[in-house]
Amino acid sequence: MIALPPGSASQLRCCHASGCRSAGGEALLQALQEAARDTGGTLTVKGVGCLRLCGRGPLVAWDGPGGTALFGDLRPAQAGDLVRLASPGDHEERRRDGQGSQAGSQPARGSDPIVPSTDQDTGSAAPGGAEAQPEAAMAALASQRLDLEQPFFALQRPLVLEHCGLIDPDSLDEALERGAYAQLQRCLRELSPEQVRAEIRLSGLRGRGGAGYPTGLKWDTVALQPEGPRYVVCNADEGDPGAFMNRSVLEGDPHRLLEGIAIAAYAVGAERGYIYVRAEYPLAIARMRRALAQARQRGLFGGAPGTASFQFDLEVRVGAGAYVCGEETALLASIQGRRGCPRPRPPFPAQSGLWGAPTLINNVETLATVPVILRMGSEAYAAIGTPTSPGTKVFALSGAVRHTGLVEVPLGTALRTIVETIGGGSLEQPGVPGGGALKAVQTGGPSGGCIPADHLDTPVDYESLRALGAMMGSGGMVVVDTGTPMPLLARHFMAFSVSESCGKCVPCRAGTVQLAALLDRFVEHRAEPADLQRLEQLCAMVRDTSLCGLGQAAPSPVLSTLRWFRAEYESGIAGP
Ligand SMILES: Cc1cc2nc3c(=O)[nH]c(=O)nc-3n(C[C@H](O)[C@H](O)[C@H](O)COP(=O)(O)O)c2cc1C
Ligand code: SF4
Ligand code: FES
Repeated sequence: MIALPPGSASQLRCCHASGCRSAGGEALLQALQEAARDTGGTLTVKGVGCLRLCGRGPLVAWDGPGGTALFGDLRPAQAGDLVRLASPGDHEERRRDGQGSQAGSQPARGSDPIVPSTDQDTGSAAPGGAEAQPEAAMAALASQRLDLEQPFFALQRPLVLEHCGLIDPDSLDEALERGAYAQLQRCLRELSPEQVRAEIRLSGLRGRGGAGYPTGLKWDTVALQPEGPRYVVCNADEGDPGAFMNRSVLEGDPHRLLEGIAIAAYAVGAERGYIYVRAEYPLAIARMRRALAQARQRGLFGGAPGTASFQFDLEVRVGAGAYVCGEETALLASIQGRRGCPRPRPPFPAQSGLWGAPTLINNVETLATVPVILRMGSEAYAAIGTPTSPGTKVFALSGAVRHTGLVEVPLGTALRTIVETIGGGSLEQPGVPGGGALKAVQTGGPSGGCIPADHLDTPVDYESLRALGAMMGSGGMVVVDTGTPMPLLARHFMAFSVSESCGKCVPCRAGTVQLAALLDRFVEHRAEPADLQRLEQLCAMVRDTSLCGLGQAAPSPVLSTLRWFRAEYESGIAGP
């Protein structure tokens, strides 16, 4: 979190991303804006993207002369209290009146009206002249103050999300102030497309959409196709249950993504691009469309910024919300107005994609990382993370964990650090009815698997997760406690695959249904001894013979839970 420069007025940043909006964030933002009108402009209120600790939403960050304070679990009714607390005029008045240290308040850390850490432990009111406010209201706010020094924030390394939660996503000016489009301009003025591709190649960036394919290699493949039209497509479908990383970028920092797409277009020689967003993300669609209109108005798109040789424009396309449409060939079919069904590869989209032309398709997070790499330099970026998995990755941490939200950390960070230190460990304590200790972490959504608690020291990188039968996927991380039977969890994901299968190939269409029926038997403790072997054989068949990644990966949650928690399946076999 960034503090305002000393002497500047206070501001409140209210999260109005989807997570907080669903908890009343929009009403809170409106109430704050209304209450702030009476402060005569000394306090500004703005809506921002995700502040990352989504489980405590709606969240508001207060930037004052002394630093930043964060409040969670707010209600619109508290808007007036928050505005009074944050209004700098009130502080000055209180200071002049000599009320700064009356009983009941404890001005924290010297004379700063705001300090960047909490006083929750001491039970004191929130900083900054809380004494002038009705005691109960201030005590409530104090108890809702979140510690910015806590590991959840302190151990993160936001690069992709660096401006998310800081800027108003609807303001191009704010994005420009923080350097948006500077790397695009630099590329256009100073770097050839080959040099840009070399930077991405040397950074070692791997696709964040799931498979971890080297981004530089893909860009080279597209760029080196024979002359002719080519396209760039941003995959913003994000259908994995438990994943909302891409949505946060779209909603919180749309210009970052637009810049990444434009740089990619320049690097591969594309004149046209598409952002494919699922219909279930209406806010993301609206923000991307607004950002695109703003950028066009300033001549950043649809024209030639800085050079007549770069003609690029793009379009937001809304998908119908089918998980399979995230698969690249299905996505391209959908853009072309056809049914979103995968097709066999090769040819890969890089060779033959939209209307048969070479097409670069990358995930949101991949493309949003591009401006960072160019700003830092490939060497500095590659020094973050591990040699084979460089950089940072955004995870959506959810399930039976104390702190749920977005976590951006260097790849190679131990799973334990993410779940126990940053996430605060399992939600429930052993012995608590309905829950228990941390049992496993499910990564990679329906394509992934479970990592048992005794493997928490595993570094989170592409290879280590795969070696455990799990998968990075796009970054969903669901913490499972001992209250959850693994066959039930596996059936949950299988039910998802059944309902999302496009039905084009038999192994997936019929195989997932049979797998779900077999899992039912284990869940309901009526399986026969031979069902265990049937389950394994069917998993292998569906995995090895399905046409696309959906069917190929559908058995993964079963296979990984069978590997680590076989006894739970055995106990689902009915007695003689
Ligand atoms: C069933 C299925 C769903 C997928 N959904 C997504 C998705 O929502 N977002 C995404 O970026 N990639 C998704 N992928 C992976 C894409 O096919 C593709 O590999 C990716 O967009 C490439 O981008 P990257 O190289 O930047 O990772 C999915 C793959 C499969 C098989
Ligand atoms: S594997 Fe499933 S989702 Fe993929 S093409 Fe076959 S039926 Fe469709
Ligand atoms: S959605 Fe508000 S903090 Fe994440």
